[in-house]
Amino acid sequence: MVGIKIKNLSFSYEDKEILKNLEVDIKKGKMTGILGPNGCGKSTFLKNILGYLSPNTGKIIFNGKDSSQLSKKEKAKIISLVPQKSSLMTNMSVKDFVLMGRLPHLKSNWSGYSFRDLNHVQDNLKLLNLETFAERVAISLSGGEFQRVLLARALTQDPEILLLDEPTSALDLNHAVDLLNKVKKLVLEKSLTSVTVLHDLNLAAMFCDELIMMKDGVVKFYGTPEKVLTEENLKEVYNLKSKIIKDENGIPYIIPLI
Ligand SMILES: Nc1ncnc2c1ncn2[C@@H]1O[C@H](COP(=O)(O)OP(=O)(O)OP(=O)(O)O)[C@@H](O)[C@H]1O
Ligand SMILES: [Mg+2]
Repeated sequence: MVGIKIKNLSFSYEDKEILKNLEVDIKKGKMTGILGPNGCGKSTFLKNILGYLSPNTGKIIFNGKDSSQLSKKEKAKIISLVPQKSSLMTNMSVKDFVLMGRLPHLKSNWSGYSFRDLNHVQDNLKLLNLETFAERVAISLSGGEFQRVLLARALTQDPEILLLDEPTSALDLNHAVDLLNKVKKLVLEKSLTSVTVLHDLNLAAMFCDELIMMKDGVVKFYGTPEKVLTEENLKEVYNLKSKIIKDENGIPYIIPLI
């Protein structure tokens, strides 16, 4: 089932065209990865899906609903983002920062948070082993700890669509594998639509069901990791020489060659 349908999406920053006629279906209940070199438009693509940026042409359809017909609050109820960069490194406590994820669900601007909202925060802090940081000031966390807090906030928003922009960039390998494992489990259990930008091709091959490989604002390749991660495609998109070996399940492992 399609969770996000992207139809002929183009986007420019002033006169510089960044996304060019993207056309892709992103499946519900699956992990979809976005790959591609620095500056090719991955974050811009996520920001268009989120509605933070508006496309010049084309449509983005969430579960059959045209996203341009939804209000900001309606969008915030169904879609959340773990950003690549966050300027929100505040002196709020971690607990209050994560609680912000409940904002779109408040009945009115005057109603406060409920016990259910607070429990939700606790559950997600626990899920990501962040309980000991609950009372700490967000700005005092390490880069990797804060990255996990960003995920806790996005999950507390209870989204149908979860966008993650390089969510493991500050994590050690153990935490990176743990985080992607937890996201994958949630995607399956709650039948979420998830889109994750990753630079680590091996992690993408291990965790993603489908991959979108971009270059210069266009989708070059789309399909399973086995189909997308080939020596020829990596040469074409990254100008990288590589050797690819496959495990017994057909999952590709990429060895870059110098
Ligand atoms: N606000 C902006 N105004 C003008 N150009 C921008 C703006 N934001 C991004 N760009 C440019 O758009 C292009 C795509 O940026 P984007 O952040 O989408 O790349 P990316 O694929 O996410 O790269 P990375 O892997 O480095 O995160 C880049 O050339 C970037 O410099
Ligand atoms: Mg980016």
